Amino acid sequence: MKAVHLVGARPQFIKLAALMGKLKGFSEVLVHSGQHYDYQMSQVFFDTLGIRKPDYHLGVGSGSHAEQTGKAMIEFEKVCIAEKPAVILIYGDCNTTLAGALVGAKLQIQVAHVEAGVRSYDWSMPEEFNRVLADHCSSLLFAPTAGAVENLGKEGIIRGVHNVGDIMYDSFLKYSKSPSNVMKSLSLKPGFVLVTLHRPSNVDSKEKLAAIFGELSKLEKPVVFPMHPRTRKSLERFGIPLGKIKVIEPVGYVEMLGLERESSLIITDSGGVQREAYFSEKPCIVLRDSTEWPELLGQTVVLLKNIRELKVAASRMMGQYCTFEKGFFGDGKTGEKIAGILRVSIK
Ligand code: UD1
Ligand code: UDP
Repeated sequence: MKAVHLVGARPQFIKLAALMGKLKGFSEVLVHSGQHYDYQMSQVFFDTLGIRKPDYHLGVGSGSHAEQTGKAMIEFEKVCIAEKPAVILIYGDCNTTLAGALVGAKLQIQVAHVEAGVRSYDWSMPEEFNRVLADHCSSLLFAPTAGAVENLGKEGIIRGVHNVGDIMYDSFLKYSKSPSNVMKSLSLKPGFVLVTLHRPSNVDSKEKLAAIFGELSKLEKPVVFPMHPRTRKSLERFGIPLGKIKVIEPVGYVEMLGLERESSLIITDSGGVQREAYFSEKPCIVLRDSTEWPELLGQTVVLLKNIRELKVAASRMMGQYCTFEKGFFGDGKTGEKIAGILRVSIK
């Protein structure tokens, strides 16, 4: 029996690393959509997380939502017709995820969604459409939290739902002890503020991005910012000065975990990074109006809607040791649980 994994964007490679090769009883086919393609956004994860070379690369690249999703669908459909998999595994909430879900549903191939049921209820996010549509095309829904199971229930999705925990927690546990020389190579001392931003709501508007950079410059601690290419392109296009912020290329996953570990505060709009802040017990300011991970609120994460309040919020949270409830995201054995369920569910 054949299982096809479809991935294409940075967080999907990290999730895949915790599952690929675990599906006993299946031959696994790996498809890369090509949504992310810079070395530091794609190949670095294959080289450092032991993911093998994809069997197919769809060459989708960047483009509008319709271009990206449409191109991925056209190419992925060809792969599925040729390979005839018993199941397609899709991950998270990117355009690549949606493309895989639609292709599978229309070819009547079972779709298994890893990270199902996650909702921000913010329809200004393209990911919210991807999540909802992907879930409604899936027959196996691997929910990361009890809240995600509830969300699915509210939409009438009950069959095929399994609370397996968060696959990102598996990856975190697997790689968080790996040695990294990132501190040395960047000449960093512990205690800095780590920033990642890539959401259109923060980085696609000149006023918003300039305001964020202005406020980051006021922070007392050094700020280290591994920058997503979308954000770098906006900064260059808008001519926003970097000030004293240490902007670096995106880093590999092990290096990123190393930076998170040594930081005193994390500021982000990333879904993955806000969970990693919780896993690594770091205070975290999320520069968004909503989060699809409400479990984190009142724990390690606060949402900051008004960027002018960043300095005050940062001083309050900086270096604070987070005491909080644990266990919202399972036990780090999500990959094994998914493999077990696939084994008995896919005939
Ligand atoms: C995508 C996902 C988002 C996810 C993020 C993870 C969608 C709608 N969005 O956002 O949910 O959180 O990936 O990082 O699927 N670019 C490069 N090199 C690359 C990749 C992108 O230069 O390797 C630039 C291009 O200018 C591109 C822009 O980044 O237009 C945005 O890339 P895209 O894949 O469309 O969306 P992300 O912002 O990366
Ligand atoms: N990440 C990384 N290098 C970086 C920035 C992020 O390896 O320079 C990792 C991060 O540790 C997390 C994942 O990428 O595991 C999050 O991806 P991203 O923020 O791009 O997307 P999101 O999770 O918001 O969909």
